[in-house]
Amino acid sequence: MTIFVSRRSALVMTAVLLASKSFAAAAPLKISTVGAGKIGRNLGGVWAKAGHPVMLSSRHPEELKDEVAAIGANARAGTVAEAIAFADVVLLAVPYSAMPGIAKDHAAALATKRLVFDATNPIAPRDGAIVEEVLQMGVGLYTAKLLPGAPIVRAFNAIGAARFSQGGRDAAGQPIGIPIAGDNAAALGLAGDLIRETGFEPVMVGGLAFGKYLRPGTPLAGEHAPVEIRRIAATLN
Ligand SMILES: NC(=O)c1ccc[n+]([C@@H]2O[C@H](COP(=O)([O-])OP(=O)(O)OC[C@H]3O[C@@H](n4cnc5c(N)ncnc54)[C@H](OP(=O)(O)O)[C@@H]3O)[C@@H](O)[C@H]2O)c1
Repeated sequence: MTIFVSRRSALVMTAVLLASKSFAAAAPLKISTVGAGKIGRNLGGVWAKAGHPVMLSSRHPEELKDEVAAIGANARAGTVAEAIAFADVVLLAVPYSAMPGIAKDHAAALATKRLVFDATNPIAPRDGAIVEEVLQMGVGLYTAKLLPGAPIVRAFNAIGAARFSQGGRDAAGQPIGIPIAGDNAAALGLAGDLIRETGFEPVMVGGLAFGKYLRPGTPLAGEHAPVEIRRIAATLN
């Protein structure tokens, strides 16, 4: 169930959840990626290596043998329906233009999950006509409209995919932050645990309405220290 809360209340609740290690990320979670391209296979690979069973999915799962072999023992491939049925946690990692179709077929199943990471971005040259509408509403709220009741957390939206398999430290060894936005406190807590497993540091910046800033081309895009993400987020509303 999605709980709609103000940005301030969400920040307070989630600060508590993110600071406590209340969710046992050590316990394996079944994680699926919808989309097995640059983002899906990189993040899927990191979580598989951390010990979670991972299913990569796409419209052509039979073409994912090399990706599965490269990840190793904890990985397999399936159809989108198989992957969503399998998972506790789903990572959406498709071009935004695919989202309405995925929502039409799978919104009910996605609403039953513990966490739905939304790494997708509306990109005009790639995604076409839907982009204007998505940007007008804000991408976080638009994904929530497509997937009513799903425990959505926007994350991983504006750092290059290859970076996720290289650990979350900058050249000086300092942690890089991943800004996250969502309205469901339990999902945000679990997201925080799974982000820490990638080596990055989760930084809660607001509810799904704030998710409009988590995409390429905004001041939060790119690699920033957690303290810098908080400073930038405080200038946005
Ligand atoms: N690349 C980055 O550095 C990066 C960073 C942050 C966020 N993102 C965002 O993450 C999303 C994915 O980016 P990407 O770079 O990983 O893209 P990509 O490499 O082009 O991969 C896209 C994946 O989505 C699958 N796909 C496309 N339409 C689908 C559908 N209707 N149902 C199921 N699977 C579908 C594709 O497989 P099939 O065509 O075989 O179905 C492919 O596996 C985008 O929204 C992007 O903006 C990307």
